[in-house]
This record gives sequence, C-alpha cells and structure tokens, in this order.
Amino acid sequence: MLTRNPPTKALVSGLLILSCFQALPAVAAPFSAVLPSSRSVEVGVTATAFATILNADDVIAEGCSITPSTGVDAAFTYQTTDPASNAVTGTVNTPVDIAAGSSQSFVIAMTPNSDFPATDVQFDFNCSTGSATSFTGINTLLLSGNSSPVADVVAVAVTPGGGGISRLPRDGVFGLMSLATTNVGSAATITARPVDLSGLDGFLRICETDQDTSNCLEEPTEETTGPLAADQTRTYSVFINSNTRIFLDAANRRTAVEFVDEFGNIRGSTSVAIEGGGPSAQTFFSNNIADQIIQPSCTSCHVAGGDAEASPLVFEIDEVPGFRETNFAVIDNYFKTVADAEATLIGAATGMNGHPQIVTEDSPVINTFQVFFELLETE
Ligand code: HEC
Repeated sequence: MLTRNPPTKALVSGLLILSCFQALPAVAAPFSAVLPSSRSVEVGVTATAFATILNADDVIAEGCSITPSTGVDAAFTYQTTDPASNAVTGTVNTPVDIAAGSSQSFVIAMTPNSDFPATDVQFDFNCSTGSATSFTGINTLLLSGNSSPVADVVAVAVTPGGGGISRLPRDGVFGLMSLATTNVGSAATITARPVDLSGLDGFLRICETDQDTSNCLEEPTEETTGPLAADQTRTYSVFINSNTRIFLDAANRRTAVEFVDEFGNIRGSTSVAIEGGGPSAQTFFSNNIADQIIQPSCTSCHVAGGDAEASPLVFEIDEVPGFRETNFAVIDNYFKTVADAEATLIGAATGMNGHPQIVTEDSPVINTFQVFFELLETE
C-alpha cells in the first residue's frame, strides 16, 4: 500500500482550527476538528489528515474514538499523535480517554478502494460524554478516490487576528484571509475560488500573492486559474466585504476557498469563520437615528435648557456642526456608563417610568435602536 506523508507541520496548525471552537455553543459534548479539510488521492493511496477532539467538559471523556459516518469505499484508521511533533503515539484504532478541559490530537487515514467523487465525509467523534456535532469544513474531510493521478491541494488559511476567524472591519473595509497551498498530488490546472457559506451580503475577491511580500500578483477577481505542478506552492489572499454586520457563528458563518481542477472536481478546500463588517455604530447612528429620530423626537426636551437637561442625554440640535458625531458620543457614553442603558432608553421612548411616550413598542424606531445597540455592544 502506498502512503502519502501527512502534510508538513508548517502547513498544519492545529491551533488554527481548534480555537474557532471557543465560539461554538458551550455544550458538554466533545468538539472536534479535522485539518486539512480536503484530500483527493488515487485508489490505494492513503490520505491523512489531523483531527483533534476537545473535551470542554469538566469530567474525563472516556473511550474517545473516531469512525467515519458517511459511507465511502475507503479503509479507515485513526491513531493518537503528539501535537508538538505530529508523530504517532498509542495504538492504531484504539479509543483513548481525554482529561477534562484538554484535547487529544489524532491522525486519521483513509485509503480509497475505488473511484468516488469528492464526498464530504463526516465522522463520529464519540466519547463517554457524548459525540461532537458534525460541521462541514470543520470536522469533516472532503475526500475523493481516483483511478488516475489527480491534484491534491492541501490548503491552510490564516487570518490577521488568528483563531480561524476573519474579523471584517466596519464601513466597507475589506476583511482578509490568507492561504498557503501545496499540491501534494499531480500537476493540474487549478482554479482557486472563494465560496460564501453564509448568505453573505457583500462580496468576495481572490488574488494570487507573492510568496515573499504577500502582495497581490493580479487585480483581485472572483476566481483565479493557473497551472499547479506537483509539490508546487501558491499563496492567495481573499478579500471579504459585508454590508451588514455578521455576528460570530463559527459553525455557520464561514468563507471557504475551493481549488477546482480543469474537470470541475474539487481538489482542495479550506474555510474560516467570518464576523464583523457592516456599518460602525457611528455610521449606523448617523444614517438612521441622528436625523430620523433624535432631532424630531428627542431634542424638544433633551437639550441644554430643555425639560430633560438634567438627564444624562443632552443632545445638540442639527444647527450645530458635527451634531451627528456629538449625539452619537452622548448615547455611546450613556451606553457605557449606565447599567441597562438599552432597556432604559427603549422604556423611556415607549412611555415607561412616567416618560412621555414617543413611540409604541412595535414601532420601527424601537427595532432601529435595537440594531444600533447590538452594533455598539459588538464594537
Ligand atoms: C417631552 C419631553 C421629552 C421628550 C420629547 C423626550 N424625553 Fe426623555 N426624558 C424627559 C425627561 C423630563 C426626563 C427625565 C430627566 C431627568 O432625569 O431629570 C427624560 C429622561 C429620559 C431618559 C432617562 C435618562 C436616565 O436618567 O437614565 C431616557 C433614556 C430618555 N429620556 C430618552 C429619550 C429619548 C430616546 C427620546 C427621543 C426618542 C426622549 N427621551 C424624548 C423628557 C423627554
């Protein structure tokens, strides 16, 4: 049996994927991750990937094992590894215990017995404390078996802030994901294309980058195609833009990059979680609240000399230059210094605690305030 070496350690940073699980729901069941997230090999050749099971529980997870739960015609083994060296430890196909709050790395190996197209193989990461939920591209392996030599693009994504999350700046500034790829299979013409997995209200662009400077070698476009020799490395940058704020949901809100050969077969893929983007709270306030709500509905009282001048909300009227920025700062400061600021403000506007009722609870104004406070909270 032919065996491909696992991708080199430099390419496979377990940390990258693991830490994205901090963002997943804090349930006691184990979490798991697989890296790289895709392999495509010839029939009879073993594809390996690294998997990690994280026991976030406060009790020992006993008898942790890994079994493919998607039917593909491939032999499977798993074995524990030393995460520092990626060297195998322990005994093949033998369940292990994982201490509370710690993780165990494994190498998983799949050897196709026949031809099959790229299939997202799910695994049952099972311990006495439960099973890890399957998340495509996080703890699954996109695997194909091929009767002739094919490209096998091992791709690793890195984000500026790390942790497997690309944090998009506000107000239309692009977020970034950088990719290092190596073709551990045969030569092919490969198209690299970013794929939105999250209903993105924005757009994605990719460029191949200079491996030393990381500068784009071409104008970023929707996809980029070029020959990829065996063992050749290429690097890319992906630019991610979102018109609306994305709240972290590492299992569902992701951007992937697929590497597709000239026949349309996926020969590699990787993904990162995305969060952020959309307007800053200041921009949202200036565009939706300053002129639309504060001026007509609040400044009759909430100004110097007005009925509410003793309240912490004293606004400038729209004749004062920079009133939008100033009034944003007034609410921002209120939000940062007053406990329950959001509830108090919405309560006041809807007529609670003796405050004059400005709007009803089902008014769009309330929804606008809620969106605004959510933006403030996440800056
Ligand atoms: C007709 C006058 C009037 C209008 C219009 C008005 N308010 Fe008030 N508001 C008051 C008064 C009076 C107080 C109590 C001031 C004090 O604490 O002495 C108050 C208090 C508040 C407080 C409580 C502040 C605290 O102590 O934490 C909030 C919040 C508030 N108003 C929000 C608003 C918002 C938002 C608008 C516009 C949508 C608005 N108000 C419009 C008169 C008004």
